[in-house]
Amino acid sequence: MASSVIISCIVLVLFLIASQSEAHNTPDLVAQLKGINEVGPHLGLLVQTKSQADAIIKSRHFVPADCDYIDIFARRFHLGWLSQRRVVIVVTGTGILNSGVCTQLLITLFTLDGIIHYGRAGIGNRLYNIGDIVIASQWAHVGLWHWQRYGPGEQTGKYTKDIGYLDFHSYSVPIHFCENTLNKVWFQYEQLFNVNGPPEVAKQVFWVNVSKSYYAAAKELEDITLEGCINRTTCLSKPPKVVRVKRGCSSNTYIDNLSYKNFLYLKFNVTVIDKDSAAAALVCESNAMPYLSIRSLSNRPGEASSKNNDPVIFSRLETVNAVVVINKLITLLAPEPLPPVPPPVKPLVDETEFAGHDFW
Ligand SMILES: *[C@@H]1O[C@H](CO)[C@@H](O)[C@H](O)[C@H]1NC(C)=O
Ligand SMILES: *[C@@H]1O[C@H](CO)[C@@H](O)[C@H](O)[C@H]1NC(C)=O
Ligand SMILES: *[C@@H]1O[C@H](CO)[C@@H](O)[C@H](O)[C@H]1NC(C)=O
Ligand SMILES: *[C@@H]1O[C@H](CO)[C@@H](O)[C@H](O)[C@H]1NC(C)=O
Repeated sequence: MASSVIISCIVLVLFLIASQSEAHNTPDLVAQLKGINEVGPHLGLLVQTKSQADAIIKSRHFVPADCDYIDIFARRFHLGWLSQRRVVIVVTGTGILNSGVCTQLLITLFTLDGIIHYGRAGIGNRLYNIGDIVIASQWAHVGLWHWQRYGPGEQTGKYTKDIGYLDFHSYSVPIHFCENTLNKVWFQYEQLFNVNGPPEVAKQVFWVNVSKSYYAAAKELEDITLEGCINRTTCLSKPPKVVRVKRGCSSNTYIDNLSYKNFLYLKFNVTVIDKDSAAAALVCESNAMPYLSIRSLSNRPGEASSKNNDPVIFSRLETVNAVVVINKLITLLAPEPLPPVPPPVKPLVDETEFAGHDFW
């Protein structure tokens, strides 16, 4: 019943696409999607940039499906097998909106058994370094604020004070020197609508958990030895590692300010800071879809980089390491029944030729 409703909605959506674009043949697209979904669930793979997606698609672990992609709503959904697992890969672009929209599109159009999300992030905790790959168990959207009025007449009861605030006055130089009319911003809950709950009834959430079983499976990734050198003479200052941590946070703000980064760390104990993961985590939570985010640490907010942790020099390494980690993770997740036809074997391709220079 529910699935027939979803299918009718998809058909409607596709008719809308067709009416907007001559390029799409609606019945074909509907039939194609139906065919793709009939063969069994895919694992959804959200990646932040095209160069990261290319690194995965052109790696020796990826074998394209007969229909190797579908373009819908200016998104390309790449289809194939990654480490023997049926996957659909889509480039999200950056930011909360792109990440959320892409996640929902993926879930709406395809039958999935889970979503893995890859991208770059800033370092929230001094214990970690450029090049490390971090997997957090919880994500929060920290960009939803109530900006408090300065002076008398403050509205009360319209927002929560449960989560906490940032007080601009505390950051004056010299410290606490004077008042600041920017006053305080209070962090607010997201409203989450749950696919298994009644419609139009939102739950308030701040921390969203990733999939417990994916997070548990990711423990084995910590044993992977990552590549730390781009050539014989240039290596990261510390050998990179894969670590599972407790928390990460996201907002539509690229944070390159040490004071605010320190505030986020002290307030929320976040190891990793990005512009995407919390949005995808919220959409997955809303759809009861297993989710895990894998983040390459690519900059230290508010701090200068030295030769041995320069994100531009090491961006290539980052992608190569990420491909290894994503593949290993896929082999660790409970496998689906094998595809009816075994995927063809692809010749070896050198992974090191794919690089990206985008920041998170
Ligand atoms: C998330 O996980 C933590 C720790 O496992 C648990 O205490 C908490 O209740 C979970 N939160 C939700 C919303 O399920
Ligand atoms: C190693 O890479 C660095 C950074 O790209 C470069 O400056 C250096 O010349 C390279 N060294 C060798 C031996 O290729
Ligand atoms: C803070 O995060 C670190 C790293 O993930 C974790 O080991 C620690 O238990 C967390 N502390 C608290 C109080 O949650
Ligand atoms: C951000 O934080 C650092 C370190 O506390 C401070 O020196 C800097 O002036 C702040 N502002 C900007 C715009 O970076």
